[in-house]
Amino acid sequence: MRVYSGIQPTGRKHLGNYLGAIRHYVTGQEEAQAAGDESIFCVVDLHATTVAYDPAELRDRTYDTIALLMAAGIDPERSVLYRQGDVPEVPELMWLLTAVTAHGDLNRMHQFKEKSGQQRDLVSAGLFLYPVLMAADVLAFRADRIPVGDDQRQHVELMRDIALRFNARFGGGDPQDPSKPGEQILTVPEGTYPTVAARIMDLQAPEKKMSTSSGSVEGTLYLLDDPKAAEKKLKRAVTDSEDPPVIRRGPDKAGVSNLIDILAATTDRTPDEVEASLVDARGYGDLKKAAADAVTTMLAPIQERYRALREDEAAIEDALATGAEKARAIARPVLADVREAMGVGPRR
Ligand code: TYM
Repeated sequence: MRVYSGIQPTGRKHLGNYLGAIRHYVTGQEEAQAAGDESIFCVVDLHATTVAYDPAELRDRTYDTIALLMAAGIDPERSVLYRQGDVPEVPELMWLLTAVTAHGDLNRMHQFKEKSGQQRDLVSAGLFLYPVLMAADVLAFRADRIPVGDDQRQHVELMRDIALRFNARFGGGDPQDPSKPGEQILTVPEGTYPTVAARIMDLQAPEKKMSTSSGSVEGTLYLLDDPKAAEKKLKRAVTDSEDPPVIRRGPDKAGVSNLIDILAATTDRTPDEVEASLVDARGYGDLKKAAADAVTTMLAPIQERYRALREDEAAIEDALATGAEKARAIARPVLADVREAMGVGPRR
């Protein structure tokens, strides 16, 4: 049971990233180890070049994100933790996978539609090919499970389709006939999504997901926000005007539902349990205060470890050098199998 996930080094990572993904990397790391397999985590600097960005900043943001993953509990001794740009097998595999990727499928990707609309000067071909690079990330390691938030579902479905089509086309099956899947040259991975907090919403605009690229600073709770700022953002979160206020989830109560999810995820309870614990609350203030206390308590030790780790860039580079070596050792034979199956390069 090999676990794999990736995260962008853009901007500052937020509560949605943590509750929807990063904390599940840490449990994935434990589960993979217990099963005698590997967990692999990647900071995707190549993906970050698909939209307008500042080259001078990219390396720093990558260090930030690596230090954050380590502070959250990813142990580079037990997992493979690497920077995408250090593993050239991945972009090579990406190119090879374009042979079995439908242009029409890429055109249908929500993220492409959304992000291409935000670009002022250039919609890069890289942005269009982004999901193929993401497929290569995972498929290069024959990963089985991908812990991600809800917003990555479409990308995960696409990488499964790519793997299935590759195996059928180059593994001796029939791409038109699912009963003839061909040899499993590439592992068809599965996405795993949290049962609570798979999609944390913007605190100021709870109908939109919390996001570094499109949200407001007030609506986005950054993992490195100091406790005062975090508390203020949660206490000012948009709720609703139901009178008297009722603490329950519902499609008509996006803001309150989001706060219930945040409190449930940070205190390891179900949303039902959180609702039950607040039946006697006097108003939304009690929910907000409980969420603020829980979030700041959860973040404090992560922030403390982060500050110590982030200071030592040489140590981060050392960890990344080891990570790249381990990652390349896994990806190299997979790539060799892919080249062989596709007839690329000399015969093995
Ligand atoms: P990224 O960097 O945008 O987000 C990292 C992880 O955080 C999750 N996430 C959320 N979860 C809950 N609520 C939210 N508001 C929220 N916002 C983000 C994301 O689902 C993700 O799991 N394309 C990916 C990076 C990637 C990748 C991969 C992931 C590249 N290659 C291979 C998995 C496997 C991305 O942009 O994530």
